Amino acid sequence: MKKILTGVRPTGSLHIGHYLAFIPELLELQKKYKVFLMIADLHSQTYPFPYQPRNLEENVYNLAAEFIALGVDPKKVLIFRQSAVPAHLSLYWILGCLASVGDLERMTQYKEMRERFKDRFTSAGLLMYPVLMAADILIYQPDLIPIGKDQSQHLEMARTLAQRFNHYFGQTFRIPNTYAPKENGQIKSLDEPLKKMAKSKLAGALFIFESEKKIEEKIKRAVTDSGSEILYEPDKKPAISNLMIIYKALTQKTFAEIEDEFRNRGYGDLKKALTREFLGFFKKARQRKESLNKVKINKILKASAKIANKEAAKTLKLVFERTGLS
Ligand code: TRP
Repeated sequence: MKKILTGVRPTGSLHIGHYLAFIPELLELQKKYKVFLMIADLHSQTYPFPYQPRNLEENVYNLAAEFIALGVDPKKVLIFRQSAVPAHLSLYWILGCLASVGDLERMTQYKEMRERFKDRFTSAGLLMYPVLMAADILIYQPDLIPIGKDQSQHLEMARTLAQRFNHYFGQTFRIPNTYAPKENGQIKSLDEPLKKMAKSKLAGALFIFESEKKIEEKIKRAVTDSGSEILYEPDKKPAISNLMIIYKALTQKTFAEIEDEFRNRGYGDLKKALTREFLGFFKKARQRKESLNKVKINKILKASAKIANKEAAKTLKLVFERTGLS
């Protein structure tokens, strides 16, 4: 069975933008592939910095619970914490010795982070972030690595390091394929429709597992455009078009059908319908999340980590042999 690996940093709750970008695809993939869904808690140590250990833990459990509630099947998918598989860190060091500091310093995400932390200091962890990601990937020899567009440069780095390792130490790693993420329309913030929906902008982020009241409120307060017609015109009507994209995804209707449905009706009607569809669509997931507790999640994470450790150990053994380590 083909292997898929992906990683997600545990930073908080999933919003509709995350959901649409990732979950439906993941639910399809789990039917056909062995999926390794890694919660990248080690990567989360790089930022925010300094962070609260308690928050990190809470975020890990919460993210795992949200994935499972949304339909990720722990019988099919290995959902585990990166830190529960220490082999990642061993490979990270070995790959670090093959990585060029110049290349790492030229990574876009690193440059952004260095800017963000310029009033403190830039940690070596931030610089090495892509090397750890390369280790995450290469240690499982996956066939496919679904990632967001912002991570494609990091995937490129994983390819480079795999090739370099193979060159110096003999054919060991499968070179990961570049993954072309689908450009299926980014969801924008409800209060700033020209900006991407982000969990840091609370008022504009529609979280899947937020209280019903909050969801109603956020949709009701969502910014709208001038005029009153409900038309899909992303340039002229970015706010309404954004709501329509969400509505379309939840109802499987086309834009034309949505425009028909709301002809001669107002923005408020679309908002009401969207609220209803959103709550209906996620009703089961929201109930499921309620039924998951830390003990259950912990069991799942541990069982998955056990299998992941076994898989990772195979590659690491080979790597140690090839590199003259014991
Ligand atoms: N860096 C990724 C992100 O921020 C998360 C991640 C860590 C990852 N390790 C990975 C993604 C390995 C894919 C494969 O989104």
